[in-house]
Amino acid sequence: MTTSRIAVIKGDGIGPEVIDEGLRVLQAIDARAGLGLTFEALDLGAERYLRDGTTMPAETMQRLRTEFDAVYLGALGDPRVPSNVHAKDILLGSRFALDLYINLRPIRLLHDRYSILKDKGCEHVDMMVFRENTEGLYTGIGGQFKRDTDDEIAIEQEINTRKGVERIIRAAFAYARANKRKSVCMSDKANAMRHGHDLWQRVWKLVAAEYPEIKTFHLYVDVLCMEMVRTPERFDVIVTNNLFGDIVTDLGAALQGGLGMAASGNIFPGRVSLFEPVHGSAPDIAGKGIANPLAAMLSAGMMLEHLGHAEWELRLREAVKACLRDGKTTRELGGDLGTRQVTDALLERLF
Ligand code: NAD
Ligand code: IPM
Ligand code: MN
Repeated sequence: MTTSRIAVIKGDGIGPEVIDEGLRVLQAIDARAGLGLTFEALDLGAERYLRDGTTMPAETMQRLRTEFDAVYLGALGDPRVPSNVHAKDILLGSRFALDLYINLRPIRLLHDRYSILKDKGCEHVDMMVFRENTEGLYTGIGGQFKRDTDDEIAIEQEINTRKGVERIIRAAFAYARANKRKSVCMSDKANAMRHGHDLWQRVWKLVAAEYPEIKTFHLYVDVLCMEMVRTPERFDVIVTNNLFGDIVTDLGAALQGGLGMAASGNIFPGRVSLFEPVHGSAPDIAGKGIANPLAAMLSAGMMLEHLGHAEWELRLREAVKACLRDGKTTRELGGDLGTRQVTDALLERLF
């Protein structure tokens, strides 16, 4: 039997609450199907940082690279660490150090009742966002000069490399072809950002020419935001840069019923990859047992697919749909269940 070694970083706030439930489901699947999953919890997050100043040790990153097949992560962010330094080192650090260049974020409405758009249902909201995950405005390149004076200058550089732009655009088109999706929308802000986003324009046209059967179109990101709300059915696959992908996928989360429903994978195909709900640590509801665990479940499904168990991703998604159909949800979706009870309901519908 092949085994899959999964590192677990529960993180802060509601992170441990939803990941504990995700682990219950993963262990139940493993017990049933014998997938050979092994789990190792890593002591990383705000608590650890506050205790001994550790964010992400180099040797732990090396272990992730060499000893694990996947990382299952909750969320990072704690009001006691206003600099957010631990989140930057652990989450952005893993994305960069493990070169997880695809941030894959499905936007799928799983039950019509949870649509926030008038007259739009599941058949209208079903798209896959390919967010570039290793460059753009996220690299931290830049600096401050004359800090805290009237003459202060703060520079944040946007990095767009030929290699980085090309591989994410290729990944989007390859996914569209493999999954028989009709179109790929590339989104940038080339009308204002004349250097970096001109590179996106040129690379997009070159790659698109290799996929003549796939309809392709371009939208500036401001128009993309409007169109995702006005006509979500236009979209199959969207590819965009790091920051725009961050923003449009929170908008996309709303189209699926909220942040408690949005899943993601940070992927390098064929190598160790990291799976996490799109939401953060939600300090406003942490510790109350009311966080929606379904985004963490759907992220666990994406992890199973990455590990070669696509049939369990589908089954898990069907079980989530069944919970939504039966109104077995947390409060923000109109239900009256707690985090743990939603998981119980999911497990009843999974097997
Ligand atoms: P957030 O996603 O934590 O919360 C936004 C709103 O959505 C809150 O009202 C919260 O209660 C609600 N919400 C989020 N997840 C929910 C769930 N599963 N069930 C029910 N309601 C849910 O975003 P924020 O408040 O902007 O950020 C809080 C902290 O999390 C910050 O430190 C931020 O940097 C961090 N963060 C981390 C990640 C990550 O680790 N991937 C992602 C986003 C934000
Ligand atoms: C996300 C988060 C992160 C991001 C933050 C916590 C740095 O918002 O994963 O969507 O911006 O990528
Ligand atoms: Mn985000």
